Amino acid sequence: MKRLAIIGASGHGKVIADIAVKNGYKEIVFLDDNPNVQECAGFRVVGTSEDVDKYSDYDIIVAIGNASIRKKIHKQVGEYRLTTLIHPQSVISRRVTIGKGTVVMAGAIINSDTKIGEGCIINTGASVDHDCSIGDFVHVSVGAHIAGTVTIGKRTWIGAGATVSNNIEICSECMIGAGAVVVSNIKEKGTYIGVPVKNGRRTYFRGGG
Ligand SMILES: CC(C)(COP(=O)(O)OP(=O)(O)OC[C@H]1O[C@@H](n2cnc3c(N)ncnc32)[C@H](O)[C@@H]1OP(=O)(O)O)[C@@H](O)C(=O)NCCC(=O)NCCS
Repeated sequence: MKRLAIIGASGHGKVIADIAVKNGYKEIVFLDDNPNVQECAGFRVVGTSEDVDKYSDYDIIVAIGNASIRKKIHKQVGEYRLTTLIHPQSVISRRVTIGKGTVVMAGAIINSDTKIGEGCIINTGASVDHDCSIGDFVHVSVGAHIAGTVTIGKRTWIGAGATVSNNIEICSECMIGAGAVVVSNIKEKGTYIGVPVKNGRRTYFRGGG
């Protein structure tokens, strides 16, 4: 029987639970470090992230939006236990590689010769076109579009509905605001907003998601 433990009983976790059911998982439990949370999407919260070793015959997925925390828990769990979840109503070219612990949500499209790293989120209705390289723990938010031959560095977060034009490079640890349009390379980590993007007033990275 396919069993899955989802770390993070959040809204993001709920969406992941739905994908898991569609992928044939029959037993699903949540682990969450907030002791007040007892269920998520109708599934039990059975412990905290520290309890992961008790679920040695379960596949594991980390449902935490913050890229830095997601990365930390990935290392704690170990790559060999992490699964990759792909919604059956996403469209993924046969020539795409996808790393461990990545989730691809409903309606997402990933085109030919693109590489998606470990622990990424390709969210609902997002698209990543041909020949892209998406670094580990990147989040492409709902409805964001990445054109062809784009490189995105590790832990960068592309906000909801943002667009990245073709042949662009974005470095690690950037926040691209919701609705932003990126038309030239971004070489310094920070927060970028607007059409086309300008460096936001806040230049730190919070690793959110
Ligand atoms: C860019 C972002 C991180 C900034 O957050 P923040 O640092 O808390 O900024 P604030 O909300 O305090 O806003 C600061 C200013 O920037 C403006 N601003 C914030 N986000 C903006 C955006 N995406 N585009 C244009 N302007 C934006 C605000 O209107 C505000 O302007 P003002 O000072 O003239 O009033 C955030 O607004 C954002 O876009 N997050 C993405 C959320 C998302 O995509 N979630 C998807 C989940 S799947």
